[in-house]
Amino acid sequence: MSGTTPSICIYKSLLRGAAGGMLRQSTAVGTGLRGSPVLLHQFGISNNRRCFSITSPSRIKEYFPIVKTKHIVETETTWKHPVFTESQMKDITVAHREAKNWSDWVALGTVRLLRTATDFATGYKHPAAGKKASAESKDFHMNEHKWMVRFIFLETVAGVPGMVGGMLRHLRSLRRMKRDMGWIETLLEEAYNERMHLLTFLKIREPGWFMRLMVLGAQGVFFNGFFISYLISPRTCHRFVGYLEEEAVMTYTHAIKDLKDGKLPKWTNMQAPDIAISYWKMPEGNQTMLDLLYYIRADEAKHREVNHTLANLNQGTDPNPYASKYDDPKEVRPTKTAEVVKPTGWERDEVL
Ligand SMILES: [Fe+2]
Ligand SMILES: [Fe+2]
Repeated sequence: MSGTTPSICIYKSLLRGAAGGMLRQSTAVGTGLRGSPVLLHQFGISNNRRCFSITSPSRIKEYFPIVKTKHIVETETTWKHPVFTESQMKDITVAHREAKNWSDWVALGTVRLLRTATDFATGYKHPAAGKKASAESKDFHMNEHKWMVRFIFLETVAGVPGMVGGMLRHLRSLRRMKRDMGWIETLLEEAYNERMHLLTFLKIREPGWFMRLMVLGAQGVFFNGFFISYLISPRTCHRFVGYLEEEAVMTYTHAIKDLKDGKLPKWTNMQAPDIAISYWKMPEGNQTMLDLLYYIRADEAKHREVNHTLANLNQGTDPNPYASKYDDPKEVRPTKTAEVVKPTGWERDEVL
């Protein structure tokens, strides 16, 4: 290494770290060990450790322990999760709604851009649809650690849109002194559901300082970006979420496949956390990590459908089909359960 190499090396290491690189070099930089040839050498070779560190279960502290008081036995949620059957969850498929207008293209383009950036940051790779990775290729190898990093990062972002949309519609209703027509509850419930995904994963792994920093930054940027975008075009924002959820379904489908193919041995016999078992009402005998991924994927499929549907409606006046009663109960209509899942959403004339 030349005299000028260390700073370049650190810079490169940091870049690599931000791209899902090492924990160690970032720690060294943070503790003033800049320029140590030994450490720099280590940074250069240990590229299998990521800045997005997550703590192993043995070292994890209880993130949200049960708060015990003298009189309260349990604190319940208002948004109880509908029961999904095994066959409903296994029937979920990867799908894509074709972009039909400029608003759809803006939404799709933004999702693709964000996906590329997130894949880069979390070290996520999978072969293109229909193509297989060669057995010796490490490029497409996801392990439990990498999957968990991706899940936790994605879920911290996924909980934002529903809350922003619900909040802005709430404020609009107050401001204009008009009814909202049932959208707010569905949007807030979606945000709650995404937060439950996150809390479940946090019962399994704890993110390290770098990941928390990235989450903080991502939330700051994404919240404000989505807030402004929703004020400008709520329709485009719902389409954006619809496309984002298409990606989420694909991500969980890949993870399920990896787990079923035996590529994630640490999860093979792993029990789902108690918080998940009670939230999804997971039945006895179906409480493993694999079952958990099926439940979460089904949730993402419902978000995909709901947001594509909402994007098809008149944002100001149409009622929310997911909070409406219909005249003929025999007709197939949008539901909150996984009984009916329409991957590309319902068109306006089908539901109004
Ligand atoms: Fe989620
Ligand atoms: Fe989602």
